Amino acid sequence: MRTGIVLFCFFIPTIAKGCCGKKQQQRILTDQPFHHYKAVEGEVFVMPCDPSEKSPVKRAGAGDGKACGEEFVAKDAGENRSFTGSNSTLQVIAKTSLRCFEPEESSVMLLAHIEGLVPCPGHACYNNTGVVWYKKNRLVSIARESCVEDGELHLCTVYREDTGVFYCDRRITEQGVAWVFRRAVHVKVIPFTEANSPPVVKYPAANMTEEVELGQPHNLSCEVDFDFEVNISRKVEWFMNYGGDLDNMTLLDTERHEEVFFSDIKVTQTYTIKEVTPQHLKHAYTCLASNTVGNNNVTIKLKEKEQGKWRSLVGYPFGCFLLVVSLGIILHVKWVELQLIFRSRFQFGKDDEEKEFDVFVSYVWTGPSAEAVKCLAISPKPYSDAGEMQSREEPIEMRLTRVLEDQWGYRVCLLERDILPGGAYTNDVVLTINRSRMLICVLSAKYFASSNAVFVLESGVKALLQNSALKMLLIWTRGTSASFIQPEPPLPKLVQRALKVLPSLQWSTDAPSTAARSFWISLQKAMPADRARPASRVQ
Ligand SMILES: *[C@@H]1O[C@H](CO)[C@@H](O)[C@H](O)[C@H]1NC(C)=O
Ligand SMILES: *[C@@H]1O[C@H](CO)[C@@H](O)[C@H](O)[C@H]1NC(C)=O
Ligand SMILES: *[C@@H]1O[C@H](CO)[C@@H](O)[C@H](O)[C@H]1NC(C)=O
Ligand SMILES: *[C@@H]1O[C@H](CO)[C@@H](O)[C@H](O)[C@H]1NC(C)=O
Ligand SMILES: *[C@@H]1O[C@H](CO)[C@@H](O)[C@H](O)[C@H]1NC(C)=O
Ligand SMILES: *[C@@H]1O[C@H](CO)[C@@H](O)[C@H](O)[C@H]1NC(C)=O
Ligand SMILES: *[C@@H]1O[C@H](CO)[C@@H](O)[C@H](O)[C@H]1NC(C)=O
Ligand SMILES: *[C@@H]1O[C@H](CO)[C@@H](O)[C@H](O)[C@H]1NC(C)=O
Ligand SMILES: *[C@@H]1O[C@H](CO)[C@@H](O)[C@H](O)[C@H]1NC(C)=O
Repeated sequence: MRTGIVLFCFFIPTIAKGCCGKKQQQRILTDQPFHHYKAVEGEVFVMPCDPSEKSPVKRAGAGDGKACGEEFVAKDAGENRSFTGSNSTLQVIAKTSLRCFEPEESSVMLLAHIEGLVPCPGHACYNNTGVVWYKKNRLVSIARESCVEDGELHLCTVYREDTGVFYCDRRITEQGVAWVFRRAVHVKVIPFTEANSPPVVKYPAANMTEEVELGQPHNLSCEVDFDFEVNISRKVEWFMNYGGDLDNMTLLDTERHEEVFFSDIKVTQTYTIKEVTPQHLKHAYTCLASNTVGNNNVTIKLKEKEQGKWRSLVGYPFGCFLLVVSLGIILHVKWVELQLIFRSRFQFGKDDEEKEFDVFVSYVWTGPSAEAVKCLAISPKPYSDAGEMQSREEPIEMRLTRVLEDQWGYRVCLLERDILPGGAYTNDVVLTINRSRMLICVLSAKYFASSNAVFVLESGVKALLQNSALKMLLIWTRGTSASFIQPEPPLPKLVQRALKVLPSLQWSTDAPSTAARSFWISLQKAMPADRARPASRVQ
């Protein structure tokens, strides 16, 4: 409050006696070059460049390398110094040798948007006629709407950009030598002298809960916006409330970080917990921000971050990235399998398309000679109730065809029976698969040993991958199974992968009759349903 009064005393008279608005005669400063400058030790100085030297060239070995036009702090009283780009020399004088020295004269605060006054230091003890003002290398009288009265610079309107160092030059003569005595004034433009509003806590939000990890360090940060003020009253503090009790607070040791803008200041006050313990979770934490206008506070609690590797993995971008990559790899590696599983389980595509055959059965004959089997097959009552013994002897390849064809009424295709000889084998297979709704492969060691048979299987898998209307079923016989077949030569990769995922049934010659019965029931379920005639008895 007191500064307010002081500053006002300062500003109002300047407005009253201001020269702004009056038409002022500006003395044009002569081109007469001055060769001797004086500056005060500890003050900022800039040596004007000679007008003749357009671009100051740095001359090698010129003192400590100062060039004209560069601002620096004058030091080493008593030395005469020369500058690159100027014929003038500088003599630095000690503060103590000044006639009068008031430290507060070296800086001034000006309120923005109104008239401002900058006195030249030493106003009281030097002749103030003919004072000339510069800002860096520019004459203020040329650059700005301004005037000089009794050596004091009047800026008719102060702008934010006026912040910086101003120089006032006095001409003095000592023992017949003409000097320019240059003094510096730091000008700071401010929006107002006092804060108008209480602080605003930007973070954390009131009653928030922050997640922490036990055993890890954690920073409690409080971000507060303050109004600018000349005398600093702003304060941000963190308190710990024992057991969440707001009446039992302890001040915490914190670190402060400030970001200063023209009319506001952002303060971040951080309390660092070196290692979070369960004790920390019991307390509440209050951030209290205050200035001369008022105060604000927020209280927060800590809670343990949900654990679990999965969650924490997903929580971090890297974890997410890993997850996506590994999913991608799995998908890539298992893509064929996934496709086969999907396509073989879910019928889609145009099933209504008219096909010549319902089932294409592919097998390699493993039983006794065909004739012997034929006799066996023709023998009466192959599936009668008493046929257990017979059916066990009849090879599955033959029996399967007969059940499908004769009992269930499917149109079965066997390569050697239904395809006219003379065509190229591969061509026949591909065409036959295309003409069938379903492919059944009866697998055995001999089957895998036959390249022709494996070709049928492979073509079936390819067709399945391309055309989902095809159904496929594998029947494992004689102890073969996907897990331990290792035929020579090895099967194509595609077939190996397909064997593991395609729908399959297990046939065992010496299985008990219940197992055989369930085999036939499963088979019937796996068959295309619509084409079957009302089934005669199964087994
Ligand atoms: C700032 O503080 C000083 C010294 O305590 C006081 O004289 C002055 O009036 C204050 N200024 C403002 C703007 O409050
Ligand atoms: C600096 O220059 C002034 C003026 O030319 C001269 O009087 C003075 O002796 C010089 N000082 C030094 C230390 O050379
Ligand atoms: C600076 O000094 C050099 C040589 O001493 C001279 O040639 C030049 O004209 C001078 N420049 C000025 C602006 O006095
Ligand atoms: C100040 O200097 C001017 C010339 O620069 C002179 O006319 C005037 O008399 C001086 N004033 C005093 C008080 O010495
Ligand atoms: C925070 O909680 C306190 C009491 O638990 C309640 O009085 C206050 O209104 C809450 N503040 C907000 C912003 O929810
Ligand atoms: C906490 O803040 C300090 C600086 O105040 C920083 O060095 C440290 O890395 C921060 N720790 C965490 C966990 O963010
Ligand atoms: C505040 O809490 C501390 C720690 O629990 C306890 O020792 C102290 O007595 C409490 N003070 C008050 C005033 O409740
Ligand atoms: C925090 O603010 C509330 C009002 O928002 C006030 O009642 C309470 O006293 C303040 N706490 C402190 C410690 O200043
Ligand atoms: C399979 O048959 C369809 C007609 O049913 C035909 O359009 C297609 O070209 C055939 N594909 C092959 C490979 O023969």
